Amino acid sequence: MSKIRVFSGTRATGRLHLGNYFGAVKGYIDLQNDSNYDCVYMAVDVHTITTPYDQHNLATATKAIIMDYLAAGLDPEKAIVTIQSLVPEHVELAFLFSSVVSVAKMQHLPTFKDKVKQHPDNVTLALLNYPTLMAADILAYKASVVPAGLDQEPHIEVTREIARRMNDLYGTDFPETKRIATPTQYVPSLTGEGKMSKSVEGSSISLTDDLAMIKKRLASCPTDSGNGQEIPKGGVSNLLTFVEIFEGIERKKAYENDYKNQGIRYGDLKAELAEAIFNYLSPIREKRLELENNQDYVDKIIKEGAEKARTIAAATLAETKIKMGFYGKN
Ligand code: TYM
Repeated sequence: MSKIRVFSGTRATGRLHLGNYFGAVKGYIDLQNDSNYDCVYMAVDVHTITTPYDQHNLATATKAIIMDYLAAGLDPEKAIVTIQSLVPEHVELAFLFSSVVSVAKMQHLPTFKDKVKQHPDNVTLALLNYPTLMAADILAYKASVVPAGLDQEPHIEVTREIARRMNDLYGTDFPETKRIATPTQYVPSLTGEGKMSKSVEGSSISLTDDLAMIKKRLASCPTDSGNGQEIPKGGVSNLLTFVEIFEGIERKKAYENDYKNQGIRYGDLKAELAEAIFNYLSPIREKRLELENNQDYVDKIIKEGAEKARTIAAATLAETKIKMGFYGKN
């Protein structure tokens, strides 16, 4: 029986944070370790240029994602791990796909509207085309499964629509891709509002932050008097979500009980939680340090991954072009 193809990626906008890890990368690892799946995981650097970015830092930020992936447990023996821009077939396929997508549809996507609010002076064609490129990432491998956080659902929906439209018009055989969620598909922000995100200052903890930094991040998480009838939404409830992730459900329940009775001392809670996060992340931090001293190994993985990925993506692209009527041989 042939294996189920999986694709996922992370934009190259900085180090991986707890949201990326618990919302997506843990799912990548579960699937790579399951022999029913054939996985491709990338640092998606072409997506990074859809919003303002620093060209002097792009290559470093991209490689940092690959190193974080490897430190977190992605295994190049089991999955293809590489960089999107090294597989230029994605961009060509995205252009072909853009011919079956209406501008109006893209303008109405909530993810597009959010980015327009964040960067009102940089609403580019590349930004509008973001979901089309994401569909190309996924469908270049005919991936039917994408491990990703809840925020990616609208993009996966567009991917399904593009696949259907291409199949109807040109007889291609793109799958109807589904998102696979981890149990923690929505990791909240430390600011108390919205999700943990690279683009919101003070909202995240990186996988490689040291204890002092983790403490500093938690210190700025807003709290209340520590006592009341019901746990309020926002900072307090988010802190308890992190307690559940890193210290277990029983510890969370104990704090909930404290809240209703003698009260929570947030200084103690945050100190204990910081230690728990730090300890949890220790093996990742150590592996990351090893990789930093072994750049040739990382470069080799990226190069070999790109070669393997290109073989698959080039075949899909060639087949799609023939079906769309371009000059060439079957
Ligand atoms: P990006 O780079 O924003 O995030 C990478 C992955 O991390 C997940 N994630 C979260 N999950 C739960 N809680 C959070 N607070 C949180 N923050 C981030 C995201 O859902 C994502 O799975 N468009 C994508 C990149 C991409 C892609 C793809 C993903 C490009 N092509 C193809 C899947 C398949 C993005 O911006 O992810």
